[in-house]
Amino acid sequence: MEVPRQIVLPGLERTHLREGIESDTVLRVDSYRDPLSVALRYPQFRFMGSKHRLLPWLYEVFSSIPFHTALDGFSGSGCVAYLLKAMGATVTTNDYLHFAYHIANALVANPGRVLGTTDLDQLLRENEEALHFIEDTFSGIFFTPEELRFLDNVWANLGLIDDEFKRSLVITAMCRAALKRQPRGVFTVANGKAARYHDGRRDLRLTLREHFIESMELLRSVPYDDGRPHRAFCMDVFDLPVEYDLVYLDPPYVPRSDDNCYIKRYHFVEGLACYWHGYEILRSSKVRKIKKKYTPFSYRRTAIPAFDQLFRKFAESVIVLSYSSNGYPDLEVLISLLRRYKSRVEVFEAEHRYHYGTHDRVRPERALVREFLIIGA
Ligand SMILES: C[S@@+](CC[C@H](N)C(=O)[O-])C[C@H]1O[C@@H](n2cnc3c(N)ncnc32)[C@H](O)[C@@H]1O
Repeated sequence: MEVPRQIVLPGLERTHLREGIESDTVLRVDSYRDPLSVALRYPQFRFMGSKHRLLPWLYEVFSSIPFHTALDGFSGSGCVAYLLKAMGATVTTNDYLHFAYHIANALVANPGRVLGTTDLDQLLRENEEALHFIEDTFSGIFFTPEELRFLDNVWANLGLIDDEFKRSLVITAMCRAALKRQPRGVFTVANGKAARYHDGRRDLRLTLREHFIESMELLRSVPYDDGRPHRAFCMDVFDLPVEYDLVYLDPPYVPRSDDNCYIKRYHFVEGLACYWHGYEILRSSKVRKIKKKYTPFSYRRTAIPAFDQLFRKFAESVIVLSYSSNGYPDLEVLISLLRRYKSRVEVFEAEHRYHYGTHDRVRPERALVREFLIIGA
Protein backbone atom coordinates (compact mmCIF):
# COMPACT_ATOMS: atom_id res chain seq x y z
CA MET A 1 0.00 0.00 0.00
CA GLU A 2 1.07 3.55 -0.65
CA VAL A 3 2.41 5.40 2.39
CA PRO A 4 0.24 8.41 3.20
CA ARG A 5 1.34 11.82 2.12
CA GLN A 6 2.93 13.45 5.10
CA ILE A 7 2.72 17.17 4.73
CA VAL A 8 5.02 19.59 6.43
CA LEU A 9 4.10 19.39 10.03
CA PRO A 10 4.06 22.08 12.59
CA GLY A 11 6.16 21.81 15.69
CA LEU A 12 4.68 22.93 18.92
CA GLU A 13 7.14 25.54 20.08
CA ARG A 14 4.71 28.19 21.04
CA THR A 15 4.84 31.55 22.57
CA HIS A 16 3.81 31.08 26.17
CA LEU A 17 1.18 33.20 27.79
CA ARG A 18 2.73 36.61 28.29
CA GLU A 19 1.74 40.20 28.59
CA GLY A 20 0.55 41.85 25.45
CA ILE A 21 -0.70 38.91 23.40
CA GLU A 22 -3.74 40.21 21.62
CA SER A 23 -6.95 38.31 22.16
CA ASP A 24 -7.40 37.45 18.50
CA THR A 25 -3.88 36.11 18.03
CA VAL A 26 -3.72 33.33 15.47
CA LEU A 27 -0.64 31.28 16.11
CA ARG A 28 1.03 30.10 12.97
CA VAL A 29 3.86 27.70 13.45
CA ASP A 30 7.14 27.78 11.69
CA SER A 31 9.05 24.71 12.77
CA TYR A 32 8.36 21.12 11.74
CA ARG A 33 8.42 17.77 13.47
CA ASP A 34 7.30 14.25 12.76
CA PRO A 35 3.56 13.47 13.17
CA LEU A 36 3.88 11.13 16.13
CA SER A 37 5.89 13.53 18.27
CA VAL A 38 3.35 16.25 17.48
CA ALA A 39 0.48 13.90 18.46
CA LEU A 40 2.15 12.81 21.69
CA ARG A 41 2.09 16.41 22.92
CA TYR A 42 -1.69 16.11 23.14
CA PRO A 43 -2.84 16.50 26.77
CA GLN A 44 -4.16 13.47 28.61
CA PHE A 45 -7.74 13.79 29.81
CA ARG A 46 -9.01 11.35 32.39
CA PHE A 47 -11.37 9.94 29.80
CA MET A 48 -12.67 6.36 29.86
CA GLY A 49 -11.41 4.45 26.82
CA SER A 50 -8.90 7.11 25.74
CA LYS A 51 -6.49 5.74 23.15
CA HIS A 52 -3.72 8.16 24.11
CA ARG A 53 -1.36 5.36 25.13
CA LEU A 54 -2.00 3.57 21.86
CA LEU A 55 -1.12 6.54 19.64
CA PRO A 56 2.29 5.10 18.51
CA TRP A 57 0.59 1.88 17.45
CA LEU A 58 -2.30 3.71 15.76
CA TYR A 59 0.24 5.88 13.94
CA GLU A 60 1.99 2.76 12.63
CA VAL A 61 -1.26 1.25 11.37
CA PHE A 62 -2.63 4.52 9.87
CA SER A 63 0.71 4.95 8.06
CA SER A 64 -0.10 1.96 5.87
CA ILE A 65 -3.28 3.63 4.56
CA PRO A 66 -3.37 6.42 1.97
CA PHE A 67 -5.73 9.23 3.02
CA HIS A 68 -6.22 12.96 2.65
CA THR A 69 -9.48 13.30 4.57
CA ALA A 70 -10.40 11.51 7.79
CA LEU A 71 -13.27 11.23 10.24
CA ASP A 72 -12.99 10.33 13.91
CA GLY A 73 -16.65 9.41 14.46
CA PHE A 74 -16.46 8.87 18.26
CA SER A 75 -13.74 11.34 19.17
CA GLY A 76 -13.94 11.28 23.01
CA SER A 77 -10.75 12.93 24.30
CA GLY A 78 -9.81 13.91 20.72
CA CYS A 79 -6.31 12.42 20.77
CA VAL A 80 -6.79 10.18 17.71
CA ALA A 81 -8.30 13.03 15.67
CA TYR A 82 -5.26 15.11 16.63
CA LEU A 83 -2.95 12.33 15.39
CA LEU A 84 -4.85 12.22 12.08
CA LYS A 85 -4.44 16.00 11.77
CA ALA A 86 -0.72 15.69 12.53
CA MET A 87 -0.49 13.05 9.76
CA GLY A 88 -1.61 15.66 7.25
CA ALA A 89 -5.30 14.81 6.88
CA THR A 90 -8.18 17.26 6.76
CA VAL A 91 -10.03 16.02 9.81
CA THR A 92 -13.68 15.91 10.85
CA THR A 93 -14.35 14.98 14.46
CA ASN A 94 -17.63 13.98 16.03
CA ASP A 95 -18.96 13.00 19.43
CA TYR A 96 -22.51 13.28 20.72
CA LEU A 97 -21.35 14.58 24.11
CA HIS A 98 -20.93 18.36 24.40
CA PHE A 99 -17.72 18.29 26.39
CA ALA A 100 -16.07 15.91 23.93
CA TYR A 101 -17.20 18.17 21.07
CA HIS A 102 -15.66 21.24 22.75
CA ILE A 103 -12.38 19.42 23.37
CA ALA A 104 -12.13 18.50 19.67
CA ASN A 105 -13.27 21.92 18.50
CA ALA A 106 -10.74 23.64 20.78
CA LEU A 107 -7.77 21.40 20.12
CA VAL A 108 -8.23 19.79 16.70
CA ALA A 109 -10.51 21.94 14.52
CA ASN A 110 -9.15 25.19 16.00
CA PRO A 111 -6.74 26.89 13.58
CA GLY A 112 -4.51 28.14 16.40
CA ARG A 113 -6.73 30.73 18.06
CA VAL A 114 -5.91 31.14 21.73
CA LEU A 115 -6.83 33.54 24.48
CA GLY A 116 -4.69 36.52 25.31
CA THR A 117 -4.12 37.98 28.76
CA THR A 118 -6.94 40.49 28.23
CA ASP A 119 -9.40 37.65 27.49
CA LEU A 120 -8.23 35.77 30.56
CA ASP A 121 -8.57 38.85 32.78
CA GLN A 122 -12.10 39.34 31.46
CA LEU A 123 -12.98 35.73 32.21
CA LEU A 124 -11.69 35.87 35.78
CA ARG A 125 -13.28 39.23 36.63
CA GLU A 126 -16.14 39.02 39.14
CA ASN A 127 -19.45 39.34 37.33
CA GLU A 128 -22.34 40.53 39.46
CA GLU A 129 -24.83 39.26 36.92
CA ALA A 130 -23.55 35.69 37.24
CA LEU A 131 -26.20 33.08 37.86
CA HIS A 132 -25.80 30.69 40.80
CA PHE A 133 -27.06 27.57 39.11
CA ILE A 134 -23.92 25.45 39.61
CA GLU A 135 -23.43 26.63 43.20
CA ASP A 136 -27.09 26.06 44.09
CA THR A 137 -27.27 22.66 42.44
CA PHE A 138 -23.97 21.07 43.48
CA SER A 139 -23.05 22.64 46.86
CA GLY A 140 -22.26 19.85 49.29
CA ILE A 141 -22.02 17.36 46.42
CA PHE A 142 -18.90 18.30 44.43
CA PHE A 143 -16.10 20.77 45.22
CA THR A 144 -16.52 23.79 47.56
CA PRO A 145 -19.27 26.42 47.15
CA GLU A 146 -16.56 28.96 46.29
CA GLU A 147 -15.24 26.73 43.51
CA LEU A 148 -18.74 26.21 42.13
CA ARG A 149 -19.28 30.00 42.22
CA PHE A 150 -16.05 30.34 40.24
CA LEU A 151 -17.52 28.12 37.48
CA ASP A 152 -20.80 30.13 37.45
CA ASN A 153 -18.71 33.28 37.14
CA VAL A 154 -16.57 32.02 34.24
CA TRP A 155 -19.76 30.98 32.45
CA ALA A 156 -21.22 34.46 32.97
CA ASN A 157 -18.12 35.98 31.37
CA LEU A 158 -17.92 33.50 28.50
CA GLY A 159 -20.28 35.64 26.41
CA LEU A 160 -17.55 38.29 26.24
CA ILE A 161 -15.38 35.92 24.19
CA ASP A 162 -16.50 36.31 20.61
CA ASP A 163 -14.64 33.45 18.92
CA GLU A 164 -16.13 29.94 18.89
CA PHE A 165 -12.71 28.22 19.11
CA LYS A 166 -11.68 30.34 22.07
CA ARG A 167 -14.98 29.63 23.80
CA SER A 168 -14.38 25.91 23.28
CA LEU A 169 -10.90 26.33 24.78
CA VAL A 170 -12.39 27.93 27.90
CA ILE A 171 -14.98 25.16 28.22
CA THR A 172 -12.26 22.54 27.71
CA ALA A 173 -10.15 24.19 30.44
CA MET A 174 -13.13 24.22 32.83
CA CYS A 175 -13.84 20.53 32.14
CA ARG A 176 -10.18 19.54 32.47
CA ALA A 177 -9.95 21.46 35.76
CA ALA A 178 -13.06 19.70 37.11
CA LEU A 179 -11.81 16.27 36.04
CA LYS A 180 -8.43 16.83 37.65
CA ARG A 181 -9.84 18.26 40.88
CA GLN A 182 -12.36 15.44 41.30
CA PRO A 183 -11.05 12.33 43.10
CA ARG A 184 -10.54 9.55 40.49
CA GLY A 185 -11.83 11.94 37.81
CA VAL A 186 -15.39 10.58 37.92
CA PHE A 187 -18.58 12.07 39.32
CA THR A 188 -20.20 8.92 40.64
CA VAL A 189 -19.76 9.73 44.34
CA ALA A 190 -20.28 12.96 46.28
CA ASN A 191 -17.82 14.87 48.49
CA GLY A 192 -18.25 12.76 51.63
CA LYS A 193 -17.45 9.42 50.01
CA ALA A 194 -14.99 10.93 47.55
CA ALA A 195 -12.91 12.20 50.51
CA ARG A 196 -11.57 8.72 51.09
CA TYR A 197 -9.71 8.96 47.80
CA HIS A 198 -8.01 12.15 48.98
CA ASP A 199 -4.41 11.01 49.26
CA GLY A 200 -2.81 14.46 49.26
CA ARG A 201 -1.98 14.36 45.54
CA ARG A 202 -1.28 17.75 43.98
CA ASP A 203 -4.32 17.47 41.69
CA LEU A 204 -6.57 17.22 44.75
CA ARG A 205 -4.78 19.99 46.65
CA LEU A 206 -5.09 22.66 43.93
CA THR A 207 -8.32 24.64 43.74
CA LEU A 208 -10.53 24.55 40.67
CA ARG A 209 -9.45 28.09 39.84
CA GLU A 210 -5.77 27.08 39.99
CA HIS A 211 -6.47 24.05 37.80
CA PHE A 212 -8.38 26.24 35.35
CA ILE A 213 -5.54 28.76 35.01
CA GLU A 214 -3.02 25.93 34.65
CA SER A 215 -5.20 24.26 31.99
CA MET A 216 -5.59 27.51 30.04
CA GLU A 217 -1.81 27.78 29.94
CA LEU A 218 -1.26 24.14 28.98
CA LEU A 219 -3.90 24.11 26.23
CA ARG A 220 -2.43 27.16 24.51
CA SER A 221 0.28 25.06 22.91
CA VAL A 222 -2.07 22.45 21.44
CA PRO A 223 -4.18 23.97 18.59
CA TYR A 224 -2.35 24.96 15.44
CA ASP A 225 -3.01 26.17 11.95
CA ASP A 226 -1.92 23.92 9.10
CA GLY A 227 -4.04 25.72 6.52
CA ARG A 228 -6.61 22.92 6.33
CA PRO A 229 -10.33 23.33 7.07
CA HIS A 230 -10.83 20.90 9.96
CA ARG A 231 -14.23 20.75 11.63
CA ALA A 232 -15.88 19.35 14.73
CA PHE A 233 -19.45 18.04 15.02
CA CYS A 234 -21.63 17.18 18.01
CA MET A 235 -24.23 14.73 16.77
CA ASP A 236 -25.26 11.12 16.54
CA VAL A 237 -22.76 9.27 14.35
CA PHE A 238 -25.59 8.11 12.06
CA ASP A 239 -26.45 11.72 11.13
CA LEU A 240 -22.98 12.61 9.88
CA PRO A 241 -22.14 13.37 6.26
CA VAL A 242 -20.12 10.54 4.65
CA GLU A 243 -17.34 11.86 2.44
CA TYR A 244 -13.96 10.74 3.89
CA ASP A 245 -11.03 8.63 2.66
CA LEU A 246 -10.55 7.12 6.13
CA VAL A 247 -13.11 6.63 8.88
CA TYR A 248 -11.84 5.81 12.39
CA LEU A 249 -14.50 4.32 14.67
CA ASP A 250 -14.07 3.79 18.41
CA PRO A 251 -17.60 3.32 19.74
CA PRO A 252 -18.41 2.28 23.29
CA TYR A 253 -18.83 -1.49 23.49
CA VAL A 254 -21.28 -3.45 25.56
CA PRO A 255 -19.03 -4.37 28.51
CA ARG A 256 -18.77 -7.96 29.77
CA SER A 257 -18.86 -6.58 33.32
CA ASP A 258 -19.28 -3.17 34.99
CA ASP A 259 -20.88 -0.67 32.59
CA ASN A 260 -19.70 1.84 30.01
CA CYS A 261 -21.97 4.77 30.81
CA TYR A 262 -20.22 8.04 30.07
CA ILE A 263 -23.01 10.14 31.60
CA LYS A 264 -22.81 8.26 34.91
CA ARG A 265 -19.10 9.10 35.19
CA TYR A 266 -18.96 12.49 33.48
CA HIS A 267 -22.44 14.05 33.92
CA PHE A 268 -20.94 17.06 35.73
CA VAL A 269 -18.55 18.00 32.90
CA GLU A 270 -21.17 17.23 30.26
CA GLY A 271 -23.56 19.66 32.01
CA LEU A 272 -20.77 22.16 32.58
CA ALA A 273 -19.94 22.18 28.83
CA CYS A 274 -23.40 23.61 28.02
CA TYR A 275 -24.43 25.08 31.41
CA TRP A 276 -26.93 22.19 31.57
CA HIS A 277 -29.01 23.70 28.72
CA GLY A 278 -31.27 21.06 27.23
CA TYR A 279 -30.59 18.63 30.08
CA GLU A 280 -32.90 17.70 32.87
CA ILE A 281 -31.27 16.99 36.23
CA LEU A 282 -32.59 13.89 37.91
CA ARG A 283 -33.47 15.36 41.29
CA SER A 284 -33.74 11.87 42.76
CA SER A 285 -30.07 11.34 42.05
CA LYS A 286 -27.74 11.97 45.01
CA VAL A 287 -25.08 13.40 42.68
CA ARG A 288 -27.59 15.37 40.52
CA LYS A 289 -27.04 13.27 37.43
CA ILE A 290 -28.59 13.99 34.04
CA LYS A 291 -30.45 11.43 31.99
CA LYS A 292 -28.36 8.78 30.27
CA LYS A 293 -27.81 9.44 26.57
CA TYR A 294 -28.96 6.55 24.43
CA THR A 295 -26.56 4.84 22.08
CA PRO A 296 -27.34 1.51 20.40
CA PHE A 297 -23.73 0.37 20.93
CA SER A 298 -24.32 -0.06 24.66
CA TYR A 299 -26.95 -2.82 24.51
CA ARG A 300 -26.65 -6.47 23.46
CA ARG A 301 -29.99 -6.30 21.67
CA THR A 302 -29.05 -3.34 19.45
CA ALA A 303 -25.24 -3.46 19.13
CA ILE A 304 -24.96 -5.86 16.18
CA PRO A 305 -27.53 -4.08 13.96
CA ALA A 306 -25.87 -0.77 14.90
CA PHE A 307 -22.45 -1.99 13.72
CA ASP A 308 -24.02 -3.24 10.51
CA GLN A 309 -25.65 0.15 9.93
CA LEU A 310 -22.37 1.93 10.72
CA PHE A 311 -20.33 -0.15 8.25
CA ARG A 312 -23.00 0.31 5.56
CA LYS A 313 -23.00 4.06 6.12
CA PHE A 314 -19.22 4.37 5.67
CA ALA A 315 -18.85 1.61 3.04
CA GLU A 316 -17.19 4.01 0.57
CA SER A 317 -14.36 4.84 3.01
CA VAL A 318 -11.50 2.77 4.44
CA ILE A 319 -12.89 1.82 7.86
CA VAL A 320 -10.59 1.46 10.88
CA LEU A 321 -12.44 0.08 13.88
CA SER A 322 -11.04 -0.08 17.41
CA TYR A 323 -12.08 -3.12 19.40
CA SER A 324 -11.16 -4.35 22.90
CA SER A 325 -11.32 -7.98 23.97
CA ASN A 326 -13.59 -7.04 26.91
CA GLY A 327 -16.37 -5.82 24.62
CA TYR A 328 -19.42 -7.33 22.96
CA PRO A 329 -19.89 -8.36 20.14
CA ASP A 330 -16.99 -10.76 19.55
CA LEU A 331 -14.19 -9.97 17.15
CA GLU A 332 -15.35 -12.69 14.72
CA VAL A 333 -18.82 -11.16 14.53
CA LEU A 334 -17.42 -7.73 13.73
CA ILE A 335 -15.14 -9.14 11.07
CA SER A 336 -18.00 -10.94 9.36
CA LEU A 337 -20.18 -7.81 9.51
CA LEU A 338 -17.41 -5.73 7.95
CA ARG A 339 -16.90 -8.38 5.22
CA ARG A 340 -20.43 -7.63 4.00
CA TYR A 341 -19.20 -4.24 2.78
CA LYS A 342 -15.43 -4.67 2.36
CA SER A 343 -13.48 -7.10 0.18
CA ARG A 344 -10.31 -6.89 2.28
CA VAL A 345 -10.43 -7.07 6.08
CA GLU A 346 -7.25 -7.06 8.18
CA VAL A 347 -6.82 -7.28 11.95
CA PHE A 348 -3.97 -5.81 14.02
CA GLU A 349 -3.46 -6.56 17.69
CA ALA A 350 -1.81 -4.65 20.54
CA GLU A 351 -1.96 -4.94 24.31
CA HIS A 352 -3.29 -2.11 26.39
CA ARG A 353 -3.87 -1.72 30.11
CA TYR A 354 -6.73 0.61 30.90
CA HIS A 355 -6.20 3.08 33.71
CA TYR A 356 -9.35 5.11 33.88
CA GLY A 357 -13.00 4.34 34.15
CA THR A 358 -12.51 0.93 35.65
CA HIS A 359 -13.91 0.34 39.07
CA ASP A 360 -11.63 0.21 42.10
CA ARG A 361 -12.44 -3.41 42.77
CA VAL A 362 -11.64 -4.47 39.21
CA ARG A 363 -8.79 -6.96 39.43
CA PRO A 364 -5.63 -6.13 37.45
CA GLU A 365 -6.12 -9.08 35.07
CA ARG A 366 -9.55 -7.72 34.17
CA ALA A 367 -8.12 -4.29 33.46
CA LEU A 368 -5.66 -5.89 31.02
CA VAL A 369 -7.45 -6.07 27.70
CA ARG A 370 -6.31 -7.00 24.22
CA GLU A 371 -6.75 -4.19 21.74
CA PHE A 372 -7.48 -4.71 18.07
CA LEU A 373 -7.74 -2.57 14.98
CA ILE A 374 -9.96 -4.03 12.28
CA ILE A 375 -9.41 -2.47 8.89
CA GLY A 376 -11.87 -2.82 6.05
CA ALA A 377 -10.60 -1.56 2.69
C1 LIG B 1 -14.52 4.73 23.50
S1 LIG B 1 -14.96 6.41 23.50
C2 LIG B 1 -13.89 7.12 22.31
C3 LIG B 1 -12.51 7.35 22.87
C4 LIG B 1 -11.59 8.13 21.95
N1 LIG B 1 -11.19 7.35 20.79
C5 LIG B 1 -10.36 8.57 22.70
O1 LIG B 1 -9.25 8.14 22.38
O2 LIG B 1 -10.52 9.35 23.64
C6 LIG B 1 -16.53 6.40 22.73
C7 LIG B 1 -17.16 7.78 22.51
O3 LIG B 1 -18.31 7.59 21.67
C8 LIG B 1 -19.28 8.56 21.99
N2 LIG B 1 -20.58 8.06 21.46
C9 LIG B 1 -21.28 6.99 21.90
N3 LIG B 1 -22.35 6.79 21.11
C10 LIG B 1 -22.33 7.74 20.15
C11 LIG B 1 -23.17 8.03 19.04
N4 LIG B 1 -24.24 7.29 18.76
N5 LIG B 1 -22.84 9.08 18.24
C12 LIG B 1 -21.75 9.84 18.51
N6 LIG B 1 -20.92 9.60 19.56
C13 LIG B 1 -21.20 8.56 20.37
C14 LIG B 1 -19.18 8.68 23.50
O4 LIG B 1 -19.65 9.93 23.94
C15 LIG B 1 -17.65 8.50 23.73
O5 LIG B 1 -17.01 9.75 23.83
